[in-house]
Amino acid sequence: MKGRNKLVVLVVILAGLLSATARTGLLAKYAERQTVVPRTQLDSVKTDPETGLAVDDQLMLVKAQCTACHSSKLILQSHFSRDKWIERIRWMQRTQKLWDLGESEPVILAYLVKHYGPVERPFDGRREPLKNVKWHKLETGR
Ligand code: HEC
Repeated sequence: MKGRNKLVVLVVILAGLLSATARTGLLAKYAERQTVVPRTQLDSVKTDPETGLAVDDQLMLVKAQCTACHSSKLILQSHFSRDKWIERIRWMQRTQKLWDLGESEPVILAYLVKHYGPVERPFDGRREPLKNVKWHKLETGR
């Protein structure tokens, strides 16, 4: 094969590789978005009237351990993955005197990820779109 032909073959191979990685990169981005919808976004999930936290068997435990220092709103507004929740708990333990959660930790974590896990849409820190809006019916009075 002549030098010039070799070069052409090389360029074609490189272009193929590049487009393949670009596509898998896109796929990975897409896969990231396919995360679970937090159960609290489903209207069927009951919430505790006092704290707004989702009602399930772990509510009392989470309420006792996680609303002693601050409002439950800090939890309600969060949409963290399991790793991120662990990181937040470690941060509170390091800097905010949060105690060792011991055997409760995995239970609390499961509750947090189940109810306050990542959102389906990329969450940019703004509020979620309104749901169940009761629009006024405009009268077309003549
Ligand atoms: C010992 C006190 C204490 C306890 C108990 C505590 N926290 Fe916190 N937490 C803090 C403080 C202090 C902050 C910072 C508050 C602020 O920024 O105003 C904080 C912040 C947070 C934030 C906001 C962090 C962020 O980066 O957005 C979340 C979420 C949170 N806590 C969740 C929890 C959960 C879940 C629990 C139960 C495992 C818990 N906290 C228990 C002291 C505590």
